[in-house]
Amino acid sequence: MASITIRNLDKETKQALRKLAAENGHSMEEEARILLGNAKKTAKHKLISLALQKASIKQAESEEIELNLHDKRILLVIGGGIAAYKCLDLIRRLRERGASVRPVMTKAAHEFVTPLSVSAIANDKVFSELFDRDDEHDIGHIRLSRGADLIVVAPATADLMAKMAQGHANDLASTVLMATNKPVLIAPAMNPQMWSHPATQRNLTTLQSDGINFIGPNAGEMAESGEAGVGRMAEPMEILSAISNILVPGNPPKPLAGKRAIVTSGPTHEPIDPVRYIANRSSGKQGHAIAEALGRAGAEVILVSGPVNIANPEHAETIKVQTAREMKQAVETALPADIGVMVAAVADWRSVNQADEKMKKENDKGPSSLKLTENPDILKTLGYHENRPTLLIGFAAETEHLERYAKAKLKSKNADWIIANDVSPEGGVMGGDKNTVKRLTRTGIESWPRMNKQDVAQKLVDEIVNHFEVETIEV
Ligand SMILES: Cc1cc2nc3c(=O)[nH]c(=O)nc-3n(C[C@H](O)[C@H](O)[C@H](O)COP(=O)(O)O)c2cc1C
Repeated sequence: MASITIRNLDKETKQALRKLAAENGHSMEEEARILLGNAKKTAKHKLISLALQKASIKQAESEEIELNLHDKRILLVIGGGIAAYKCLDLIRRLRERGASVRPVMTKAAHEFVTPLSVSAIANDKVFSELFDRDDEHDIGHIRLSRGADLIVVAPATADLMAKMAQGHANDLASTVLMATNKPVLIAPAMNPQMWSHPATQRNLTTLQSDGINFIGPNAGEMAESGEAGVGRMAEPMEILSAISNILVPGNPPKPLAGKRAIVTSGPTHEPIDPVRYIANRSSGKQGHAIAEALGRAGAEVILVSGPVNIANPEHAETIKVQTAREMKQAVETALPADIGVMVAAVADWRSVNQADEKMKKENDKGPSSLKLTENPDILKTLGYHENRPTLLIGFAAETEHLERYAKAKLKSKNADWIIANDVSPEGGVMGGDKNTVKRLTRTGIESWPRMNKQDVAQKLVDEIVNHFEVETIEV
């Protein structure tokens, strides 16, 4: 099975595919699938088909490098929550990377996803019954729990967490989890109230001290309409990363291998005279953390940084600039890119005239006035650039009307996402180590909990990885 990310196709192939899909009344994904599957092609179709095949091979090669789980055996316990549907995608991705997946479903899980689908995607039988004479004779619950390299519980319901924390073994899933001598990774998924309930939080602490590994839950919209908060199951790619970290330590996944990113960070300094300048309190901590996280995820990263007092990230090439105009030029020179993350707090204005010598205080004359002019808008320049990054993300630092201003910015700058943060002095964001942000996309808004800037960076990179994965189709 191969896969293609439509977004990764070159411009011409994408245009040709879009046209053909429109002519035939198909989506681009459907059209690509048909083209690749259809042996009898017209000459017109052959060219597009060839380009698609090449893209598919290239992507398969980069995914091979990205994450190799060959011969790893995963026992996947699927709990009875709405997020159970995501386990189909998880199984597919695990198998694509060479792992075998043996599914165990709780009785409640059958209500959310059919054993037939799970079995078909896993290419294995689904185990559910503890007292199934045939299964017990054939494999047995002890062998089931030991014959894996890792047990993954996804989604882990509040109920399964409680059972695990209390040592219950009253169905196949909980018995297997009790009987195993292998590492266990769990991906909780539940309503935010259930997650924050003291009982669940107690169980979380117990399980963590028992050595159980956790991934998520994430913050965001719940499947139930109108509900939001912490409780959403980690995305399949995040679970894959966590699996790889446990099973192949020292071989961290590189989900952004082959992607190029430009990040801006820090303030800009706009000179008034040789010793004075206009600046702001940005430390560069958030932008640098994002550049580092993107680099660790395998992207080739160009960090264009204003003057800061922190070290250059290890996994990025850093270009140092002083002014907004220098930053814009460095960013444009670094194009093209797949990802643009404009974090820098670029000065909106600069002094019209820069004195060549230090301006002197003249007795009794009072302060001399400063004439300002607008600096170039780097985010907007990229938003309408002929080489616009495929995914363009801007930061909006505001002290009031955060959402309103961020929404307006998303539109006027032609960005894909805006990461909005409240930089009122009482929040201590500017220069501090923590950040509380909202992610605005063209379809919605989500609030992230207060986190370290490194965690915000990692979460943003996870979202970027998901974004590029979403448009991946099987052919
Ligand atoms: C529509 C619906 C959705 C549910 N979603 C979740 C969920 O996301 N997380 C959760 O912990 N429980 C959820 N539950 C409750 C579980 O299904 C219930 O606790 C069940 O006993 C869990 O069984 P299991 O842990 O054996 O899979 C949901 C129940 C219903 C009816």
